[in-house]
Amino acid sequence: MKPLIAPSILASDFANLQKEVEMLNQSEADYIHVDIMDGVFVPNISFGIPVTEAIHKHAKKPMDVHLMIVRPENYLEAFRKAGAEILTVHLEACPHLHRTLQAIKQMGAKAGVAINPHTSVTLLAEIIEEVDLVCVMSVNPGFGGQKFIENTYSKVSRLKDLIISKNSKTLIEVDGGVNLTNAPLLFQAGADVLVAGSFVFNSADPIQIISQLKESV
Ligand code: DX5
Ligand code: ZN
Repeated sequence: MKPLIAPSILASDFANLQKEVEMLNQSEADYIHVDIMDGVFVPNISFGIPVTEAIHKHAKKPMDVHLMIVRPENYLEAFRKAGAEILTVHLEACPHLHRTLQAIKQMGAKAGVAINPHTSVTLLAEIIEEVDLVCVMSVNPGFGGQKFIENTYSKVSRLKDLIISKNSKTLIEVDGGVNLTNAPLLFQAGADVLVAGSFVFNSADPIQIISQLKESV
């Protein structure tokens, strides 16, 4: 088994989006990670629905859309129509998480839940069987290029234990500061999907880095 790799388009050259997406199509990437920031849930604004549609127009890999927004339930349908295959909402933004996850699944998408660095995996105990993917934030969401938080390794293994104890098929994704040093350790701890933004796009050879991340375990 190897990890799935989800390069984050946030770190790409937005003036050459088509070229960047075509590069990912040629690579061993499994998903295209699309970061949506609203300037309210997180202190930054990225892009929204039209840009997600534009990425989808060229993408040959499934889009993994990470909604760092308040009231995500109001925008699920729009992002699904824009091509999202996985729709991930933040636990901290969802007072009715169970209802929100059902809504995502009714649209035919996979339902993801992201948790901030301070959020305990124990808060997922009653809902884990309904979740297709948990996105464990290994930086505070809002910006690419931040330093990886070391507590993530033990957090991922606690989450893995919870998933196994419930006999669930939930995938664990790790998002933020992923590189070739921490990737093998995250995989060992139980991560299934690794998101990498700046480490991929700031390198001289992104295709090569994506393949190295996959083979690093
Ligand atoms: C952070 C985003 C991440 C980010 C990852 O708010 O959710 O997906 O783009 O970028 P790097 O890999 O540069 O930390
Ligand atoms: Zn993300």
